Amino acid sequence: MERLDKIISNLGYGSRKDVKSFAKKGIIEVDGVIVKDNGMLVDPEKSIIKINGEQILYRKYIYLMMNKPDGVISATHDNKDETVIDLLELEHQVFEPFPVGRLDKDTVGLLLLTNDGELNHRLIAPKWHVDKVYYAKIDKKVDEKDVAAFKNGITLDDGYKCMEAKLEILSNDDNGSDIRVTIQEGKYHQVKRMFEAVDKKVVYLKREEFGGLLLDPTLEEGEYRELTDDELSLLRSY
Ligand code: URA
Repeated sequence: MERLDKIISNLGYGSRKDVKSFAKKGIIEVDGVIVKDNGMLVDPEKSIIKINGEQILYRKYIYLMMNKPDGVISATHDNKDETVIDLLELEHQVFEPFPVGRLDKDTVGLLLLTNDGELNHRLIAPKWHVDKVYYAKIDKKVDEKDVAAFKNGITLDDGYKCMEAKLEILSNDDNGSDIRVTIQEGKYHQVKRMFEAVDKKVVYLKREEFGGLLLDPTLEEGEYRELTDDELSLLRSY
């Protein structure tokens, strides 16, 4: 059971003060009965709550897919830079979502945001080996030797030996290469450091896939949407 004003304001329908005035006006109904007490205890999973005759959509968790833009931090707070949370509408911010893992400030692409701590934990815990697929532009020509090195496990600058990674060369010219790489870990700056280990530099990095989920190609950088039920089941079953 939760307070009626807390349930309604957590869903983004207004502040607790707003809810108090809705109740006073007699526009809130719980299971068909007008409720004037904004502090009434209600089970939001069982009761039908209406405001102005319209049933509110109760949910505890939200799951968002964002195409993260360049220059934005994957965190909930930052003292100087804009964060991915700043890009959300208030109606989604009220759920207090957080990013699932991190992308660097200059990395773009698929970032999940949720307030479901358990799913977040399952997706980022090292033991689950969730596939992450990145598209990247590299400053030098990538060759089959690099593909083999990625397959054998790259050793990073701190001595950590990465798991096997699948490296595909998409195109190659004298100015560098376009590649796709699939990793299952999430070490700090991992893709960039893997290429540094073979004496190359990542000049553009975009995450295209996370845990079997594909970045929606209709999302412009900075845009986001809720996951569909199918996408959520896919993530849960991963
Ligand atoms: N690897 C990186 O180097 N940066 C990212 O943002 C993600 C993976």
